[in-house]
Amino acid sequence: MPTPPLATLPIRRLTFRDLSACADLSEDRGWPREEHKWGLLLSAGKGYGIDGPDGGLASACVVTEYGGREQPSLGAIGMVLVAERHARQGVGRRLMHYVVSTMDSTPLTLYATPNGRPLYEELGFKVTGRAEMLRGHFVPGADGPVAGVSTRSATAEDLPALLRLDEEVFGADRTHIVTRLPAFADQLRVAEEDGRIIGYAAAWPNMNTHVVGPLIARDTPTATALVASLAARTDRPLRTDIDVRHEELLAWAKARGLESVAFNTVMTYGITELPGDWTRRFAPVTVAAG
Ligand SMILES: CC(C)(COP(=O)(O)OP(=O)(O)OC[C@H]1O[C@@H](n2cnc3c(N)ncnc32)[C@H](O)[C@@H]1OP(=O)(O)O)[C@@H](O)C(=O)NCCC(=O)NCCS
Repeated sequence: MPTPPLATLPIRRLTFRDLSACADLSEDRGWPREEHKWGLLLSAGKGYGIDGPDGGLASACVVTEYGGREQPSLGAIGMVLVAERHARQGVGRRLMHYVVSTMDSTPLTLYATPNGRPLYEELGFKVTGRAEMLRGHFVPGADGPVAGVSTRSATAEDLPALLRLDEEVFGADRTHIVTRLPAFADQLRVAEEDGRIIGYAAAWPNMNTHVVGPLIARDTPTATALVASLAARTDRPLRTDIDVRHEELLAWAKARGLESVAFNTVMTYGITELPGDWTRRFAPVTVAAG
């Protein structure tokens, strides 16, 4: 039987059952398999994919919606992938056109790799910022405690306060992500001042690293206290993606042994700026979900 042309293959919703096929696709592109991350995205977000004529997935991407359930106020696109053997034949363009039209008038955002950027620009996405990916073993420094600020492990009772803070800073309701963090992350810590939560951060396992994200804090000293407290409780190298406007945090993290690995471009569609308060938003949960 002749194989059908790629342009006619249907686009379907992915489910949790597609997790290993998604990880295979990552691997095909030389990305780490990141099954734990795919698991979060496929359960909290909506996956879309195209089955390849030769088995496996030819293409995939995930959209995580934020805000109202019926009418989301923001959609974050991530894990846009086309298998190497099907590359440069319009598959990525077709899947992205489909996803953008499915999202109707919902504003969209994504972190673009240099590979993906031309396609997003063609679709009308505009550059609004940049994030620097850092990685490495954290070397504790001579940072004294931040006056009046303490960190501790989050408890179930903190959840309402975390959800309030997160929505204020992210600019949209992220309940479905934040409530998954206690199970998804190995550590979830809060920073407090006078019994009030002024920041929180998670460290979740990704291949051999711990990814620090989300990282939300009132100011840079609070962010450094959170990162240092997460680092003190893991032997793995850390990875994080920091908004380049947070120069002080970037300089501090580099002085503590983390190295710059890559830059990703923040792009939006339908809005000119991301909602929320960037001054308190230091790092996303993952660049694949905002
Ligand atoms: C980025 C990616 C999804 C594009 O998928 P694709 O099916 O190969 O892309 P298309 O054939 O639909 O091409 C769409 C346009 O993107 C651009 N493009 C795609 N691949 C490119 C490449 N390797 N170099 C430069 N531009 C490229 C071109 O403008 C292209 O249009 P053209 O072929 O008419 O010139 C695919 O290359 C991929 O999976 N890359 C690795 C993972 C990645 O970086 N994903 C993006 C995450 S943000």
